[in-house]
Amino acid sequence: MIQLTEAATLTVQDGIGIISINNPPVNALGYPVRKGIADGIDQAVKDSQVKAIVIICEGRTFCAGADIREFGQPPKEPGLGEVLEILDASPKPTIAAIHGTAFGGGLETALSCHFRIGVPTAQFGLPEVKLGLLPGAGGTQRLPRVVGPEKALQMIAIGDPIGATEALAVGLIDEIVDGDLKAAAIAFAGKVLAENRPLVKVSANNQKVEAARGKSEIFDTFRKSIARKARGFVAPENCIKAVEGSVNLPFKEGLKRERELFMELMNGHQSAAQRYAFFAERQVSKIPDIPKDTPQLDVKKVGIIGAGTMGGGIAMNFVNAGYTVTLVETKQDFLDRGLGVIRKNYEITASKGKMTTADVEKRMSLITGTLSLEDLADVDLVIEAVFEDMPLKKEIFGKLDRICKKDAILATNTSYLDVNEIAAVTGRPEFVLGLHFFSPANVMRLLEIVRGAKTSKTVLATALTIGKKIKKVAVVVGVCHGFAGNRMFSQRKNEMDQVILEGASPEQVDKVVYDFGFPMGPFVLSDLIGLDLGWKKETSSSSSVRDILCESGRMGQKNGRGYYLYEAGNRAPIPDPEVKQMIDDFAAKQGYKKRAVSDDEIVKRCVYPLINEGAKILEEGIAVRPSDLDIIWINGYGWPVYLGGPMFYADLIGLDKVLATLKEYEAKLGSHWKPAALIEKLVSEGKGFKDLN
Ligand SMILES: NC(=O)c1ccc[n+]([C@@H]2O[C@H](COP(=O)([O-])OP(=O)(O)OC[C@H]3O[C@@H](n4cnc5c(N)ncnc54)[C@H](O)[C@@H]3O)[C@@H](O)[C@H]2O)c1
Repeated sequence: MIQLTEAATLTVQDGIGIISINNPPVNALGYPVRKGIADGIDQAVKDSQVKAIVIICEGRTFCAGADIREFGQPPKEPGLGEVLEILDASPKPTIAAIHGTAFGGGLETALSCHFRIGVPTAQFGLPEVKLGLLPGAGGTQRLPRVVGPEKALQMIAIGDPIGATEALAVGLIDEIVDGDLKAAAIAFAGKVLAENRPLVKVSANNQKVEAARGKSEIFDTFRKSIARKARGFVAPENCIKAVEGSVNLPFKEGLKRERELFMELMNGHQSAAQRYAFFAERQVSKIPDIPKDTPQLDVKKVGIIGAGTMGGGIAMNFVNAGYTVTLVETKQDFLDRGLGVIRKNYEITASKGKMTTADVEKRMSLITGTLSLEDLADVDLVIEAVFEDMPLKKEIFGKLDRICKKDAILATNTSYLDVNEIAAVTGRPEFVLGLHFFSPANVMRLLEIVRGAKTSKTVLATALTIGKKIKKVAVVVGVCHGFAGNRMFSQRKNEMDQVILEGASPEQVDKVVYDFGFPMGPFVLSDLIGLDLGWKKETSSSSSVRDILCESGRMGQKNGRGYYLYEAGNRAPIPDPEVKQMIDDFAAKQGYKKRAVSDDEIVKRCVYPLINEGAKILEEGIAVRPSDLDIIWINGYGWPVYLGGPMFYADLIGLDKVLATLKEYEAKLGSHWKPAALIEKLVSEGKGFKDLN
């Protein structure tokens, strides 16, 4: 055995040279791996005993991609492109033996071999687009040559991986092998030699790309198919252009085109934002005073109180992860309705072929409905999701404290109420916290874990683990009105309500906010949620546009009239001159003089309140770090990931510029625009939010 580098060895067995890579945890293609492959090929080619070469990885996976920690570092030779050229040019057959995941640079490496085999569980993908990039080591040129441009477009511009069966069907691998992978690879190499199979140099295998030449409809159709999901992102289009290059240019020229398109993305802010968000998401579970070895509680049985909008969705999260759930309601009707909604949701999933009918029954069997809180005596965790009403919540927590076993965790899904006040009615405030899910709770990834003043470290650590188990992005926040997400959201909402009084129309605001990258604007969103949420006829005092709309029976999409009109069965908002008049009349009464509000001003007045409130939240220690707020906004409020989140965006604009605008608005619009002290401080020190992450 020859030790090529600290991460690679070469052994010769039965005339086959085996380059074995061992670079834990995921055999990322860092320098020692690249150098190892290059030297291994060189030595195996020179060794007359070696007739064919296998590349195989130790540990849990094939090379799972480039080492993204090397991004932004000075390049260390040989680069991946160079190594892949060496592989491609090998005069002896090269075979990639794949287990685990061959993603990104890993798949590009496999594509540069002459043959590929994989175990049945292997996965193959080029997910770079998800980090705002494209595969930059020939993947956009080689993959279309192997699987054809249509399939390559899907894999490169959408970035979803495929399994071994599909990989075999599309020609990405030559064989699926069972049993010991190394033995299978040696046997496969033997077969290649015995059958005298020609070397398949992917770079010279032009049949599939030539067949697509001149057929621009392939690309037009694909562009249309991803238009909605790819809105605002630049990387998918560059991916498409690179694959077009594979069809229309010779291989070497195509590589150059790929490089240009890659560099464009690498130097742009979108990929920086997406890579930031990728790391930020992995950062959220790190809480400075909660070390990894914090003792945790064992949670198996969960109780959920309230089978309404939130309770039902929360229950689904837990049964999906295999927990048993006891669901409590006040009346049989409400319980039946709640369970019916859950069943219907699962049946819809089953009708799409994403689960079997047996799965539906299995999941439903994990939920037991009851009308008695006493049935929560033996659960390990309770999540209360009843009406947003402090006296009711206090009454329930008082009862839970008496009913539940003494080390059961008691959580509330409240949106705004004081978790400490709720905890105080129990004799175990250290076991109380908020678990704030977002609607629809079975779909939205965000979970705010609200840490009460007395919540114990064990309870918090357990909540973080539960968050992972139910596949949420769980962000720890402190107690204040609305916690982090809704507190920031309220500031934005107030400002948007204001801007339509000054002269912008709801349509203009919604268009600007949509074009910024949010899934919808604030007024379309209000119509969707229902204008009457939290509104009461008895106490309504015509003191806001919302009051006036509700008082005139406009409740939003649900009754076809809100800020917009809606035709039956159609969610498309239609501007309503009557609403415009109502807004104008109300504004005039309040003393506003109508003026034109520019799109640029709308963006600032939509986004800067988030930044300013986010800074105050950080000052108060309600959130651990700025990037946590960004993760909240990306996963809970539709902030476009390619802009990294409001705090990232502030740095992108320049915090000094943001501060200047805040001051300008403070003078013009009022003291609620007063800049957070933290922003003043960071600017005076020449720093940004990034310095606090
Ligand atoms: N809807 C949202 O978007 C959203 C998002 C996050 C958090 N929340 C919070 O979640 C909680 C529930 O909101 P929702 O939208 O699901 O409300 P909902 O009105 O849809 O459901 C509440 C359910 O609780 C039941 N209930 C009331 N008192 C009960 C009791 N004593 N015992 C058992 N069940 C009882 C009601 O019958 C009802 O089915 C609120 O605190 C709300 O602020 C809501």
